[in-house]
Amino acid sequence: MRTYLAPLALPVLLATACVEPAATPVDDSLPPVSGLTPLEDEDPAVGAVRYSLTARASDVKLVKDAAPLQAWTYNGSVPGPLLQARVGDDVTVVLDNDLDEPTTIHWHGMRVPNEMDGVVGGEMQAIEPGASFTYHFTAPDAGTYWFHPHVRAAEQVERGLHGMFVVHEAEADTPDVDAERAFVVDDVSLTNDGDAIAPFGRDMMEVMHGRYGNVLLLNGSDEVPSFTFADGQVERWRFVNTANARTMVLRFPGLVVRQIGADAGLWPQALIEDTTEVVLPSGARADLEVRLAAGAVEGSLVSAVQALDDNDEVVEIEVPLASVTKDDALAASTRAGHQGNPHLTVLDNGSATHTLTISGANVGGGIEFTINGYAWPESEQWSVPQHELQIIEVRNELGMEHPFHLHGDFFQVVSRSGGAGLDDRGWRDTVLLRGQERMKVATTFGNPGMWMIHCHILEHAEAGMMSMVMVEPSDEPAGDHEM
Ligand code: C2O
Ligand code: CU
Repeated sequence: MRTYLAPLALPVLLATACVEPAATPVDDSLPPVSGLTPLEDEDPAVGAVRYSLTARASDVKLVKDAAPLQAWTYNGSVPGPLLQARVGDDVTVVLDNDLDEPTTIHWHGMRVPNEMDGVVGGEMQAIEPGASFTYHFTAPDAGTYWFHPHVRAAEQVERGLHGMFVVHEAEADTPDVDAERAFVVDDVSLTNDGDAIAPFGRDMMEVMHGRYGNVLLLNGSDEVPSFTFADGQVERWRFVNTANARTMVLRFPGLVVRQIGADAGLWPQALIEDTTEVVLPSGARADLEVRLAAGAVEGSLVSAVQALDDNDEVVEIEVPLASVTKDDALAASTRAGHQGNPHLTVLDNGSATHTLTISGANVGGGIEFTINGYAWPESEQWSVPQHELQIIEVRNELGMEHPFHLHGDFFQVVSRSGGAGLDDRGWRDTVLLRGQERMKVATTFGNPGMWMIHCHILEHAEAGMMSMVMVEPSDEPAGDHEM
């Protein structure tokens, strides 16, 4: 099996406008982030945060024109509450499992100690129903991260278990903006009347392409929030794509947008330019600086998706996710935006030190995906010394795209086949590997332990497209190529 069809077009329900609720800051020392409800920090000490999460079934309203439906939630909401810390903080999160099945939390993108990574394997077990677990780590890097289960993730994440974790920069490095907003973009597959999450594993298409939703959600709702901008207003918008499979194509008519950061936080100025489209695969993050275009009185955030028109033809439509209107009655803003210039070591291309070949086949009436010939839970034995520069060539033998994700550390994309540009700037943990593409990524594996490498289309991962690398602890100091 060499190629697959492109994902099927799916109709997307269109949404209606509403006004966003105001954000309430819970901790005065952190900049408020609008769009999600922040969870209260239970630790009064400076330099430490403590949060309590309960994974449980709850009724939530995702679709404006449909009845509430039963989802699996953190603390009763989808997405879960916003977790926040300041870079360097000591983070404690107590998770109670009130689900009827085992779960874990993976801190996607955060360089946590191996035993806090939320994967199951070796000595690390899932949290049984009725049990609890205390995650404890330091937030080493400022940036936009997220959290989700790493057991039966395709079903648990789709049912609603996911949330954003913002690690704020040190105060001096924080961009000078009028507001910060969170954008958890997602899609969900609902039954036709929208009052239940569609059954899982219905057909082979769901495994082959990943599970595409029929409703687009922003922060757990299909309503379109509207924001008011003063003259000169500049905002920081933090995005994460929590969809099981769909790559989000975000556009910004009427707005002037600079991408100022990605998975691992803010970029130096040399990497930044105006952008009109951000392609965000499942699991990846983007940090945008947003203004209204000169002379514009309104603008919007839209997601381009394939849909069927009245004649059942596949067409691209732009689904509005949020709108911005100008209010000249408001006092003009003179904020400067992201003026900082954080240090970034740019890694060079070189010969591959390891190759990961992604493939798949029909096996016994189902689909099995493989990395270097192994389908998870089988995987190759691969170990590397901590702090050693590695250049990994990832070869996609399939026609479909895969968001390539590494746990425990960041990497940089240093080459792509087929002349594709290196549009993934800076340190990443999740990037799109296109159909039939070969891509080289460089990393220095500074974090010892057994780390997962997998496709972030969760159905692909569960059908075998996961592997791991053992980073052997070393006494060598970190090289100057490290983050
Ligand atoms: Cu968000 Cu192993 O993944
Ligand atoms: Cu995949």
